[in-house]
Formats: sequence, structure tokens, C-alpha cells
Amino acid sequence: MTFKPANSIQDLQYFGEFGGVNPSISDSSTYTFLSAKTMFDTFEGNADGCYLYSRHSSPSNLYLGEALAAMEGTETANVSASGMGAITPVLMQLCGAGDHIVSSRTIYGGTYAFLKNFTPRFNIETSFVDITKLDVVEASITKNTKVLFCESVSNPLLEVADIKSLAEIAKRHNLKLVVDNTFSPLSISPAKLGADVVIHSLTKFINGSSDAVGGVVCGTQEFINDLRDVNSGASMLLGSTMDSLRSASVLKNLRTLHIRMLQHSLNANYLAKQFEKDGLKTVYPGLASHPSHKLFKTMMNKKYGFGGMLTIDVGSLDKANELMEMMQEKNLGYLAVSLGFYKTLFSAPGSSTSSEIPEEEQEEMGLSDGLIRFSIGLDADIERTYQMMRGCMETLNVLDKKQEAELA
Ligand SMILES: Cc1ncc(COP(=O)(O)O)c(C=O)c1O
Repeated sequence: MTFKPANSIQDLQYFGEFGGVNPSISDSSTYTFLSAKTMFDTFEGNADGCYLYSRHSSPSNLYLGEALAAMEGTETANVSASGMGAITPVLMQLCGAGDHIVSSRTIYGGTYAFLKNFTPRFNIETSFVDITKLDVVEASITKNTKVLFCESVSNPLLEVADIKSLAEIAKRHNLKLVVDNTFSPLSISPAKLGADVVIHSLTKFINGSSDAVGGVVCGTQEFINDLRDVNSGASMLLGSTMDSLRSASVLKNLRTLHIRMLQHSLNANYLAKQFEKDGLKTVYPGLASHPSHKLFKTMMNKKYGFGGMLTIDVGSLDKANELMEMMQEKNLGYLAVSLGFYKTLFSAPGSSTSSEIPEEEQEEMGLSDGLIRFSIGLDADIERTYQMMRGCMETLNVLDKKQEAELA
């Protein structure tokens, strides 16, 4: 049966304390117990439905977590104060000293820095591989490997991971497949394709208004219980807890995610096709020229499209900077990192979100200086946006007016 994640969100029914249509916000850090025995049982993890202390769990965080678990089709979920606050405890929970991780080499710069510079301090080593080469992935697995890590659609190069095949490899070697699905909410449901753990930075599309930072880990009840364990849970002990007021506001934004993703995808698809036609080196999973276009199609929940992210290469960092400054001046979007906003956001990843990755490694993975990453906005008139963007490109000779006319 086809999985329909937006239906799962629509079907959630939460009542507020006084019959409100929104769940009440739990504005408390600590909770009372009618008996000392129940408090003891709760600490032991044996009192379902009782709250203890809001770093462990709170009603508001559970509401949001359950909504996100419904969206990803997992048993449950745990929300956190940021995407990194979801990624780092998962990896620390699954790995200890002497363990090894196989990770995609094209991942968010912060995750890369954590694996490259931070976890080695705990004697956890990572091999970074081309995740699209399944034989290379499998060959990198050692007897110490515990985790296979990737992003469904990678930041910033938009490489697409073959989650079904990676899940088979993970199963064969008794590893956990952990997938960061930040770039493709609703379009791709990694758990349905075999991933063990699905992570999001809620900061991006899911919240969608660039006013909050948040994260989530979606997985089995057993794994989420492990993360929250008062004695040994990495989420509980590292303490990256989301605030209840914030989780209530993210939950409200989640309800319109399907409409927003449709528009982001529609707009990005339109621009990618036009840019490619204009002769720009364009990467977008919806283009037939994308090496994983067919693979994306086999994995996607139809309807939500190929997402709101695209990249173009304008040849040099100077040109990229000039173009981004001009586009901001013309109010076509903001020169800013992050994604999923109603306005288009653009940045040059080589010198920003991926600057943690050393230059020679950037070059090896195809992350060129002139690459601009776009998170395409919800523009109501994308043709107008395109014409204005094209105008900027012509002014700066990124697109040659005359040559274009000759080609036409
Ligand atoms: C794919 C991906 N994962 C994780 C993160 C980290 O999320 P946060 O900034 O919410 O900690 C980001 C942030 O840019 C990201 O793009």
C-alpha cells in the first residue's frame, strides 16, 4: 500500500485541556506525583503516562514527536533543541570507543565536522564514502562498524541515497542505517524503505518559517527509550531538549507542510528546467539529467515532487557572490544559509555551510567554488522570479545575452 504521510498528519486529533482545538502547552519543567511510589516507578521507566522532568519528556514535546513519527511511519520519535541535537546523541548512543561509522562524504558540514573532528576524541572513527557507489560502501564496512549514515538527498550536492539497497547492506552486516531526511520531508520516507533511524533538522522545511531551531529522531520505541534513559540515554544526558513553547509552534507549522512542499517543489522544478535550458550547470533531482533522477522516482511518495533545493554552478566564487548580492538587492531572496523559508535563500556552500570540509576534499566530491545552493521559496509567480533572476545573470554575464539569442 502506498504510504501517505500528509494523511497521517491530517488525521492526528489532539484536544486541549479545556476542549481547545490545539493541545495545551505544558509550561512546566517538573511534575507532581500523588504518591512517592509512582515517582520511583517513573524513574525506573515503569510508569507510562507520567511525566517526570521536561528534559526527559513533556506533553508538548510528545505531541510533536508523535506527529513526526506518524509522518515518518515509525513507532515513535524524540524531539530535540536542534538538528545537531538529534544527530549527535543518536551516533553517541549507537557507538562507543573502538567503533566505526561508514558515512556519506556529502553531508551537512556540521555533521561532517562532528564525525571528522569530534568523535575521534572518543575513539570512534568514520570512513567517508561516495554513498551512490554501493560496492564502495560495502567494502568500507569493518568488523567494528556499527552505523551507516547518510542524507536521503545530500547537502549541498543533492546526491540521492539508494535507501532500500543501503538498508539491505546494513541488515547483512548487522548495522543501523541512520538517515537524515531534512532535505526531503514527505517526498521520501526512509523508514518505509528500511532505515532504522530517521532524523530531521526541524529548523528547515518542517518548521518552514526560519524562526526556530529544532530536531527530531524517529525510530522504534526501544531505541527512543534508550535515548531517553535516565541512566544511559544520550538525549537525556547530553540534554539537548526542545522547549515546550517551541514544540507547540513547530507542531502548528507542520500541519501545512504538504502544501508548502508542493509549492517549493513546483517552483524549484520550474526554475531548474529554465536554468538548464539556459545552459547553466544545474543540479536538481527532478531533472532527467540528474544521475539519480530515476532512483528518486522509485523512492518518492508521488505528489510532493522533487523538493525545493537546487544548485547552479556559475564558475567562480566571485561570480557567485556578485550574483547572490544582486539577487538580494532585487528582493529575489536572501543571501543566507538554511532552507525551507517562504523566500528563496541562497548561499555558496564551499565558503559557508560546507566550509568545515577541507578544500581538497570539497574538490574531490565535486563541490566547486562557483556553486550556489538555492532553497526555492513559495513565490506565487515563479515566472516573474525567473525573469528577474535571468536579468541578474545577464547583467553579470553569467548568461550571455547575445549567445542566448543566437541559440534561440
Ligand atoms: C541536512 C542537515 N542536517 C542537519 C542540519 C543541522 O540542523 P540544525 O541547524 O537544526 O542543528 C542541517 C543544517 O543546516 C542540515 O542541512
